[in-house]
Amino acid sequence: KTIDDLGELRGKRVLVRSDFNVPLDGTTITDDGRIRAALPTIRRLAAAGGKVVVTAHLGRPKGSPDPAFSLAPVAQRLGELLGSHVTLASDTVGEGARSAVAAMEPGDVVLLENIRFDARETSKDDAERASLADDLAALADAYVSDGFGVVHRKQASVYDVALELPHAVGGLVQTEIEALSRATESPERPYAVVLGGSKVSDKLGVIENLLTKADRLLIGGGMVFTFLAAQGYSVGSSLLEADQIETVKGYLAAAADRGVEIVLPTDIVVAPAFAADSPATVVAVDAIPADQMGLDIGPDAAAAFAASIADAKTVVWNGPMGVFEFPAFAGGTKAVAQAMIEATAGGAFTIVGGGDSAAAVRQLGFDEAGFSHISTGGGASLEYLEGKTLPGIDVLAD
Ligand code: 3PG
Repeated sequence: KTIDDLGELRGKRVLVRSDFNVPLDGTTITDDGRIRAALPTIRRLAAAGGKVVVTAHLGRPKGSPDPAFSLAPVAQRLGELLGSHVTLASDTVGEGARSAVAAMEPGDVVLLENIRFDARETSKDDAERASLADDLAALADAYVSDGFGVVHRKQASVYDVALELPHAVGGLVQTEIEALSRATESPERPYAVVLGGSKVSDKLGVIENLLTKADRLLIGGGMVFTFLAAQGYSVGSSLLEADQIETVKGYLAAAADRGVEIVLPTDIVVAPAFAADSPATVVAVDAIPADQMGLDIGPDAAAAFAASIADAKTVVWNGPMGVFEFPAFAGGTKAVAQAMIEATAGGAFTIVGGGDSAAAVRQLGFDEAGFSHISTGGGASLEYLEGKTLPGIDVLAD
C-alpha cells in the first residue's frame, strides 16, 4: 500500500520511520544526503495536513540515552531543509514524546529522540520489540515506512510497529525498490558491477549472487588485495583478509566457468603509511613493495575500469576504489564516478549504492543528477542486491 491508500490524512498522526543515520563530525553533519532524501515524503504528509511524527536512529548507542547520539543536529538540519520548525521530542516514546505529539497541529513535524536509546528497539526478543511497537503505535494513527537504509533490520520501529498500525510504503522506499529491482531483475546488458570498500567478508553474499547475474565485476578498494593475493601476488602491507583467500579463489573459478569477467587493477597507488601526506607512488600490480600499502587503484586501472563502464548498459557501484578522503588516493574513485556519469548521459542505467560511495560522490563534488539513482542504503542495498528478504519491506506486503 502506498500513502494514497491511507485515506484522508488531515489531522491524522502519521508515524514515519526515516533513516537519519548520517555521518557526524562532533555535532556537524558531514553528509546530509539521507535527510534530503527523506524530504519528499515528510513534505507530502505535512502538506496533506498530517501530523508528522518521525522516528529514526543515529549510530549504535547502548540502549539508553546518550547525548553523543542525540538527533538534535538532525532536527536542526531537517528544519532548515523543510523551511519550518521541527520539534525534537526530549525522549523516544516517553512523556516528552507524548506531550510533543499532543501539542501538534496539522502540518507540524516532530522528531522523536534516537529510537536506539530504547534497548527494546534492537532486542532479539519478539515480546520486547512488540512492547516498544505498542508505545510507538500509541503516538500515531498510521505508519509510513520510508527509512530504506534500515529496512534490512528486524527492529521495533522498522518491523513490529507496521504490524500494529495501518501502514504504507513511503516514496523513498518505493523509488529505491524500483531502481534496485530494475538492476537485479531485468538488467539491460552488458551489466557491470563495480565493487570496492575495505572488506571482502562484508560482500560475500553479494559477490555470490552477482556471479549469477552480472556480466562483469570490477574490483577495487581495500578488498582487491585479497583478490590479488588469491592470484599469487604479494600485496605488501595492504589490507588483506588471509582467511578469505580460498573463498576468493572459488569466486575466480566460478566466474571463469560462467563467463563472468572479473576486472582487477593492473596498477596500484601505494604509500608507506595510511595518511593523507604519505608519499604516493604508482606501481605495477606485481611490484607492490613489501613495506608499502595500496591505497588506490592506479591510473591504468582507472582508465580500464572507465572503458569497461563506458561499454555497459547497466552499472551498479558499491564501495570506493581507494581512500578518497585523501586527495592523493582519490583518483580511482573519481574515475569510476566520472565514467558512470558519462555512461548515464549515453543512456546507461546507473546506480550508486552504499553509504560510502554515495558520500564519495557528494564529497568529491560530482553532480548527483548525473547518475540514474543514488541509493540511501548501505547494508540494505547490498542485501537487496544479494536477493535477501528485507524484513522492513516484507512486513508491508499484506
Ligand atoms: C546504515 O547506516 O546502514 C543504516 O542506518 C543501518 O544502521 P545499522 O547498521 O547501525 O543498523
